[in-house]
Amino acid sequence: MYFSKQIIEWYFKNKRSLPWRNCSDTYKIWLSEIILQQTRVQQGLPYFNSFIQKYPTIELLAKASENEVLKLWQGLGYYSRARNMHATAKEITEKYNGVFPNDYKNILSLKGVGPYTAAAICSFAYNLPYAVVDGNVTRVLSRFFGIQTPLDSSEGKKEFEQLAQELLIEEKAAENNQAIMEFGALQCKPKSPNCKLCPLADSCFAFNNKIIAELPKKSKKLKIRKRYFEFFIINNKDKIFIQKRKQGIWKGLYQFPLIENTVKKSESTIEKSKEWKSLFAEPIKILKISPTFKHQLTHQTIFARFWHVKSKSETIAESKSINKKELKNYPIPRLLEKYLENIRII
Ligand code: ADE
Repeated sequence: MYFSKQIIEWYFKNKRSLPWRNCSDTYKIWLSEIILQQTRVQQGLPYFNSFIQKYPTIELLAKASENEVLKLWQGLGYYSRARNMHATAKEITEKYNGVFPNDYKNILSLKGVGPYTAAAICSFAYNLPYAVVDGNVTRVLSRFFGIQTPLDSSEGKKEFEQLAQELLIEEKAAENNQAIMEFGALQCKPKSPNCKLCPLADSCFAFNNKIIAELPKKSKKLKIRKRYFEFFIINNKDKIFIQKRKQGIWKGLYQFPLIENTVKKSESTIEKSKEWKSLFAEPIKILKISPTFKHQLTHQTIFARFWHVKSKSETIAESKSINKKELKNYPIPRLLEKYLENIRII
């Protein structure tokens, strides 16, 4: 238990004070864990505070509209997290009378809650002995114990889970789990870990064998897909057209009517395409075409252009027309938000 004791000792000296720590409010713990999946604490903290302020209870979150929830989530990415969270708030309100379930099995059955989040909630809120295994934990374990098994293989997943569970000081499950994650986030960082000032360096396999940068190992290389988006900001007097996305990473968000390509196409090719013809039944006037913006997501690179056009049409396929001033009330992808911050659409 040398390892866990050292980690906990380090934690008490170095931990950040965060609003979901040292509290057993399951709502706050669950909300923070959903926000912190794929998001760093510094980026997630303001979102956590806005959610707690706007929806102080699970019931109030359940009552909100999906548009409101997505609007508050705007910019965090991975929008399915927000949709699942909203669905779970409704389920807890209806099925559990607004009281968060308090056992692993029922918690794991909630939408958007996987083994990591279930273990985090069970241990932080109820001190139940479930070890958390996330990216921080696997990095710390692989380096300290010299584990070479790829973390994304089924063998690796099992190995890290078993080891984390064996190392857990059960009666201190909450502290122990927080401690190892914090240690990974602040001390044993992915790049340039602070080995000089690390209390575990003497016994760390990777440090002693000079292979810190090689661990943890991954088997798969991330495949990144390229997508070319041509967005149309279609003006008709004070009206503008928007569409709700029905699938993919931006499901539930709104966007301008779009032509998507898998390869880069010239403006004239786009204007001659069948997608153009089905979008614009009547002739339009092109006012301006923006430069191309690159937007990097985890699994895809989006290259986007914005065409400012004028149309006399009252309707555009699969779109609704809104007053330009209303646009700010709709949840939109960060890519569009960034573009709109820098231009006037009128
Ligand atoms: N990352 C995921 N969960 C966390 C937590 N509870 N505290 C700090 N960072 C986290």
